[in-house]
Amino acid sequence: MIIENEKDVTKAVLSEYARIDNPRLREIMAAFIRHLHQFAREVKLTEQEFHAAMAYIVAIGKQSNETHNEAVLMAGSLGLSPLICLLNNGDHGKTETDASMLGPFWRMHSPATPNGGSIVRSPTPGPVLFVDATFRDAGGNPIEGAEVDIWQSSPEGFYENQDPVQADMNLRGKFVTDAEGRISFRSVKPAGYPIPIDGPVGELLRAAGRHNMRPAHLHFLACKDGFKTLISQVYDPEDPNLQTDVQFGVTRHLVGHFVRHDAAEPAPAPDVRAPWYSLQHTFVMERGAARLPKPPITGKAEGERPQIPHLERV
Ligand SMILES: [Fe+2]
Repeated sequence: MIIENEKDVTKAVLSEYARIDNPRLREIMAAFIRHLHQFAREVKLTEQEFHAAMAYIVAIGKQSNETHNEAVLMAGSLGLSPLICLLNNGDHGKTETDASMLGPFWRMHSPATPNGGSIVRSPTPGPVLFVDATFRDAGGNPIEGAEVDIWQSSPEGFYENQDPVQADMNLRGKFVTDAEGRISFRSVKPAGYPIPIDGPVGELLRAAGRHNMRPAHLHFLACKDGFKTLISQVYDPEDPNLQTDVQFGVTRHLVGHFVRHDAAEPAPAPDVRAPWYSLQHTFVMERGAARLPKPPITGKAEGERPQIPHLERV
């Protein structure tokens, strides 16, 4: 159609993309065009602002490579990925859920580890943590035979693949749930860590006066045929950044039940010094298809520890 005025632009674009055969793509494109055009009208987007936005999108692409995905980091920083997670889990947002974001650090082929074993594979100073996790279905029945991957940062805030000081696969393990749906292991208490701020995400955080920290957490990925693969994170309630996670991942349900144990209690092993911690969590897996995500990374980085600056919240 020939466009007579600004309103006609939206009509013309909608009518052309109404020709898409695939009904789901047609629905998504129609809503996307309506909201995108309405957004430009609402904020009265100027030409300079539009050109800046195009340059910003290009910069997100240029900042991304085999080991870093700035688009995923941006989606978390805008709360889009946590929103998508909550819309698609917990019976489509109707109930609380253990689902959370995968994050960039999951690796395949974590070492198989027996229940009760340790995932500390090279000297890793820090408070000892004992984890006891149970996996149940929506009816409360234990799920036996689920494969559960664990990965976490060190008490210094580094995943092993970022850190030449840690052994390959340190603080990672693969467990199988027993007849009661349980796994258990020994580790060290993880620390929070900063996300990179040398690209467009950093620019946005600075403009908003936000810090760039994720609160301390452990990652879980549980897989068993007949169940939707559960990707989860459990957070340390004592972390100072729990309320202001740069990636908006902390839901009430995923704040972990960490218990601090002091010297008055008998140590669970001769080499455990107080204070030590325990964590218990019960995960619920929903019925669905067991599908593993594509691993964001494939190996251990070489060279130095990354120097990621910390932003202060203002
Ligand atoms: Fe993480």
